[in-house]
Amino acid sequence: MATVQEKINHLKKAREKVIHGGGAKRIEKQHASGKLTARERIEKLLDPGTFVELDQFVKHRCTNFGMENTEAPGEGVVTGYGTVDGRLVYVFAQDFTVIGGSLGEMHAAKIVKVQDLALKMGAPLIGLNDSGGARIQEAVDALSGYGKIFYRNTLASGVIPQISVIMGPCAGGAVYSPALTDFIFMVKNTSQMFITGPQVIKSVTAEEVTAEELGGAMTHNSTSGVAHFAAENDDDCMQKVRCLLSFLPSNNLEEAPILATGDDPDRIEPELNTIMPDNSNQPYDMKQVIQMIVDNGEFYEVHGHYAANIITCFARFDGQTAGIIANQPSVMAGCLDINASDKAARFIRFCDAFNIPLVNIVDVPGFLPGTAQEYGGIIRHGAKMLYAYSEATVPKVTLITRKAYGGSYLAMCSQDLGADQVLAWPSAEIAVMGPAGAANIIFRGDPEVETKTAQYVEEFATPYKAAERGFVDQVIEPSETRPRIITALAMLASKREARPHKKHGNIPL
Ligand code: HXC
Repeated sequence: MATVQEKINHLKKAREKVIHGGGAKRIEKQHASGKLTARERIEKLLDPGTFVELDQFVKHRCTNFGMENTEAPGEGVVTGYGTVDGRLVYVFAQDFTVIGGSLGEMHAAKIVKVQDLALKMGAPLIGLNDSGGARIQEAVDALSGYGKIFYRNTLASGVIPQISVIMGPCAGGAVYSPALTDFIFMVKNTSQMFITGPQVIKSVTAEEVTAEELGGAMTHNSTSGVAHFAAENDDDCMQKVRCLLSFLPSNNLEEAPILATGDDPDRIEPELNTIMPDNSNQPYDMKQVIQMIVDNGEFYEVHGHYAANIITCFARFDGQTAGIIANQPSVMAGCLDINASDKAARFIRFCDAFNIPLVNIVDVPGFLPGTAQEYGGIIRHGAKMLYAYSEATVPKVTLITRKAYGGSYLAMCSQDLGADQVLAWPSAEIAVMGPAGAANIIFRGDPEVETKTAQYVEEFATPYKAAERGFVDQVIEPSETRPRIITALAMLASKREARPHKKHGNIPL
């Protein structure tokens, strides 16, 4: 019979084996392809020494196609918990060195366990994906595993932040777990996501495309909008995930952490008084405005490479996390289009689910005209913004810097869609449409068209008609924007707004 010491030695040996995953050769291959291993990634993600691994000795039960003789240390996925900036998080990291990180019944069971723990404990879940997809030998058991993960992704949606990080292949139906989560990070050059790969595409449609062109980090960040963030490498990616977490509460019952940023809440920015061009058709960079009003000029952009005509970002006002949605006049004049609407609506809903106040900065000439937009369904996509803003019960502060025309004025969270405070710069133009469009309709053929258009500009392209009706709460000097927003957010901190009970709404999709 083995002695206790021998049993301890056995445990150490067994652990050692699991820790080495698919072995030195495969680890070398992983490194050679520019990727860290699953464990190295977890080390970079979590606070040093906090990772506690679960289910190290889980084994697959597959006996098909030689699997009975195939060892899979850790079942191809490392799971457990630890902390980021001292706060509890759960993590799983697929281990490509073990059967290509492929997902079988027990691999899925390990992920499902951390999903369940994260939901029960109200802590974020971060999934590091690097996998050949469904383990082919396990057939329907692998599919069932994915199904269980998708189901839990959906249950946890709006309860805990779920972050997916794509750090290698992620193909076929496997892409849908990330797609169901809140944010997707991708690593440039080493990660790909697609439903069907280049070979299948070639055989079905004769289209030739490389894996990187089809589903690489920049494709999904800038073209499809599937991914929200692109990182330079694994290390950079883990740092970016940590930074995102610093803005978020751990669950939907908590408030976002308040950090002492050291920036003066009463800071006046004289430069804001000169940032707006006198000619209202001239662009300026809205990011400069954001930089000047948020704590220490720091903001964390979400979907930065996608639909750049609208900016979505997290930032802090006197330490309080806020979600900023801002039109960008220097891209497509800040028009709202299908992609911008989708981008903004999703961000608004995330913030609302997680008690993050919204700051909306408006300079929008309208919805983008054209058949491409109409045929693409701008009506139902634009409606998402109206829906998301109307549905949001978090504090909502709207700042109108310049144009706020027609439907897009409403879509950027006017008072009628529930803005709790509307601030406007003197350069604000709140009107049913721009002067040129208005003149074309109501003064068409009028010999005094020019005088009347000028009169329209004078009377309507201002914040004062709206202020007369109380649709604007304060007309402010641009330089005092930061303290005015901070005071408004502080005033709104105790906001409670009840809504009619329902199972769930039916957002236009
Ligand atoms: C079983 C797999 C596997 C899989 C990879 N491996 N994918 N084993 N099931 N899905 C194994 C390989 O056999 C190999 O084993 C090891 O992992 C490393 O893979 P390589 O091919 O050597 O690596 P690489 O050249 O880097 O290519 C990576 C790859 C390729 C592009 C991901 O492996 C690949 O195309 N795999 C199949 C992808 C796929 O079609 N998956 C199914 C998608 S359908 P050895 O022992 O040789 O080292 C799907 C449905 C999900 O996922 C539905 C959910 C609803």
